[in-house]
Formats: sequence, structure tokens, C-alpha cells
Amino acid sequence: MFAHLSDLHLSDPSGVRTRDLLNKRMLGYLSWRRHRREEHSGEVVNALVRDLKRVDPRHIVITGDLTHLGLPEEFREVSEWLSELGPPGGITVIPGNHETYIDTRWNDTMARWLPYMVSDTAPALSTGITSETVFPSLRVRDGIAFLGVSSAKPSAPFLAIGSVGSAQLEALDRLLLETGQMKLYRVLLIHHPPLKETLGWRKRLVDAKRLRDVLRRRGVELVLHGHAHRPADGYLETSAGVSPVIGVPSGSAIGLKLGRRAGYNLYRVTRTGKDWELTVESRGYSPESGEFVSVDTRDHKGGKQQNQGNRSQSGDQGIQLQHQSQVGD
Ligand SMILES: [Fe+2]
Repeated sequence: MFAHLSDLHLSDPSGVRTRDLLNKRMLGYLSWRRHRREEHSGEVVNALVRDLKRVDPRHIVITGDLTHLGLPEEFREVSEWLSELGPPGGITVIPGNHETYIDTRWNDTMARWLPYMVSDTAPALSTGITSETVFPSLRVRDGIAFLGVSSAKPSAPFLAIGSVGSAQLEALDRLLLETGQMKLYRVLLIHHPPLKETLGWRKRLVDAKRLRDVLRRRGVELVLHGHAHRPADGYLETSAGVSPVIGVPSGSAIGLKLGRRAGYNLYRVTRTGKDWELTVESRGYSPESGEFVSVDTRDHKGGKQQNQGNRSQSGDQGIQLQHQSQVGD
């Protein structure tokens, strides 16, 4: 069983120096002062950690946006939090757009999280792994291949777009082929949703179609993403069958906006002959108890979900389902 968290926005940028805000970060800082400071709560994060300690998943994946402004100090804060959560071998992290608010020095920022991002077969960290060489990452745990992709790129003010890029897409194509031949259960991790209808133009994955083409051709068993700050269940038809595409809410949101209270998912994967069965349990923050509780469980068998919600759109771009039960609603 493994857990999927996202968009924790853990850090506190209140002590930021003005000279560090003379760029796109100023907009992010103002947005944090106005909205996100109240929305992302340390109390909720502490409840999340308590729940994870109780549930004790074999692995934890975090699909980006652990910071607010991508400041070096925030990366340091988050790496301390990660080290308290568990050892790097048990937690896989990929970056989100907030990690690359502006172009920053790799060594001052993302390099701090390398132990949680690198592939199992990566060379020693001292050999100078960079953003170009770390992704796509591959970590294999209990017959599950976690394939991490970075869609985090600095974008213009008022945009939160992302892209994967040709080099990563080519490497991902190869990794999907190899892990498919090894009969592993392939889980793609990406911050931006690859289904077009999940989010609007301002927050889109620019090369989503190229990514979907790779996934269709090589197959993937499950795609997990963040960025939307709400639950999102969809499907993509691939050569491996109908593959679930699942987004989770922010893991730290107190729930000021309807349907956006904190939640995370647990996944249990079982092999049945040459097929797989997947059970997804959504857990959400309960303000009444101050703890996370189970809010929804659903099964996917042979690439099909058993208790489907309402289909809102279908076709070449995948299928997006309305969630049947939303956290806190
Ligand atoms: Fe994001």
C-alpha cells in the first residue's frame, strides 16, 4: 500500500527579504499573504503526519508544490520536514510549479531534495546530478515502478503552466517500455494533470498531448498528479488498458474554498493473473475531530473502475469523472 500527497505548501515565506521579491515572486508573495497563508495550515499538516504514522504505508509519493515561492530557505525548511517524515528510500518527491517560481540556482534549491528524488540506480549524489539528469526518475518498490517526471518550469506572471520537454519524453518512452517488459505496475508521477479538461488554460501542461501519446503507445497502469487542489478522477485509454488518472487535493488545506479541504489517497495494488486490481481510499481532514478520516473507497479491476461517477467529458483527451464524494462537502 502506498500514499499519494500533493500541494502541501509547507513553508513559511513571511521572513522573505524585499530584494528577493523583485520578480514574479512578488505576485506569489501577495497571493500567499491574501489567501494561501490562511488556507495552508500547520495544524492540518500535523494531523496528516499523525494519520500517515497510523496508516504506515510502505511508500509515500509527493507530487510537488511543497513550497510557496521556491526560495532557498523554503527548500531547507521542507527538507527538514521530509527527514522527519521518513527516510529518502521510502518517500518519492517530484517538483511542482511553485518550486520553480523563477529560475533559481539548482544547488540552493532542488538539490537539497535529491535523496528523495533520485532513481534507485542514480550515481552518487556527489557526482553532480542536475535538473536535466534527475528526471524521469525510476524507483521500484514491491513490484511497483514509480516513474517521476518534472513538469516544473518558470512561467510568466499569472501563469502556472508546465511542460515535460522532448528529452524527458524520450527517456520516459524507454523507461515505460522497459518496466512494462518487466511486468511491473507502472505509476507515473507528474505535478500538472495530463488530461486537458482537469484544469484551465492558465494552469495547463503545455505538451500534455505529447505525454498522452507516449502513455498510449507504451502503456501505464496509473497516473498520479496534483496542481488542481481538489480530487480529480479520470481515465486514459492506453495500450495497457483503461488507466486511471487521479489527482488529490492539497494535503494541508483547511478548506476555506468549497470542495478543497485537505485530503490524500491510499492505493492497494494486487496482481490477479495477468491483470491488476487497484483499490483507492481517499482520506480527508475532518475539522470536527482535527484528524484525517476515510471518506471514499473505490476499486479498479482490469483497467475499469467498478463504481464510476458521472462522466463529464470523453474522447481523445481522456475521460474526466466527477468525484462522487468530495472531502468536506
Ligand atoms: Fe501547482
